Amino acid sequence: MFSPMPARYTTATERPRCLIVDDEPRLRQVLMHLMRNDGFDCLQAQNGEEAIAVLERQTMTLVMSDLRMPQLDGIALLREIRGRWPDTAVVMITAVADVEVAVSCLAVGAMDYLTKPFHLEEVRARVAQALEKRRLVLENRGYQESLQEKVAVQARRLEELFLASVQSLAEALEVKDPYTRGHSVRVSHYSVVIAREMGIDGEMLRRIELGGHVHDIGKIGVREDVLNKPGKLTNEEYQHIMTHSMVGWKILAPLLGEMPEALNIVRSHHERFDGRGIPDRLAGTDIPLEARIAAAADSFDAMTSDRPYRPGLSMEEALAELVRCSGSQFDPRVVDAVIAAVEGGTFTLIGRGELVTV
Ligand SMILES: [Fe+2]
Repeated sequence: MFSPMPARYTTATERPRCLIVDDEPRLRQVLMHLMRNDGFDCLQAQNGEEAIAVLERQTMTLVMSDLRMPQLDGIALLREIRGRWPDTAVVMITAVADVEVAVSCLAVGAMDYLTKPFHLEEVRARVAQALEKRRLVLENRGYQESLQEKVAVQARRLEELFLASVQSLAEALEVKDPYTRGHSVRVSHYSVVIAREMGIDGEMLRRIELGGHVHDIGKIGVREDVLNKPGKLTNEEYQHIMTHSMVGWKILAPLLGEMPEALNIVRSHHERFDGRGIPDRLAGTDIPLEARIAAAADSFDAMTSDRPYRPGLSMEEALAELVRCSGSQFDPRVVDAVIAAVEGGTFTLIGRGELVTV
């Protein structure tokens, strides 16, 4: 008698199943007897075609298949199993003369092969080895899948933490400069609407949305007496406040390295299409598209918001101003997109009546 099968193949949850495929009834019987004694549920088939019919009804832990059979032979069956039931281990059974072919089966994905005539102890050893290989392959795959899952969860968590820290910066600015409240959210919204109109989507759109939220973050570095001055600014004060795009860029560059488009908005939203803007005096398409979009969104919101010293312009007046400055302050393509979005009904005035500064 053979010693019982190792416990790992005969767990209560998974009783291993074995399919014996051979055109010799005598050999099938011997192997069925052996495998049943070792704790397997066993089925048999006379050729490859029959074997596939069995596999289509029931998943198998192990297939032991002869190489030479009428109709579908062992190699064709092996290929079919690798493609359709990759978790099933296959051990080939072959005559000595076919050893070379049997070895080539390993390349196709057989776990092992047996040469006839064989000792039953040898069968047991090969089967145990094949199932151990199968277990390792499955375990390795499961490990990789759970690792990928863990990495994805960590990446999401990191992004959440990152966005939370950026958000807290934006909130810090709102405390310091209550007039900017709502401005960043509206600039972000308008920028996204314009970008969509220009055919931008996916990750780029997300970055534009974030860039809009943080575009004025550099105002954290602006003196409060200047930031909250109700009257007209002196030239020096104006120059000071306009340093905010570079200050913001310096604050966020270490955080937003992975999102260059958001950083471009922070740095370049006060550039002008004619090259007379700040901080780099970029002109035309040298200004990143996302910054040209944010510039129009920023100005539109500034114009339509009330100031301590004047009410905001109407939607029509602000649009007329964008058109008037198309080609000088603003990219004509962006202004065209604003007009198209207005006509399409996606660009509408939001949050009217809130106070904003520069
Ligand atoms: Fe700004």
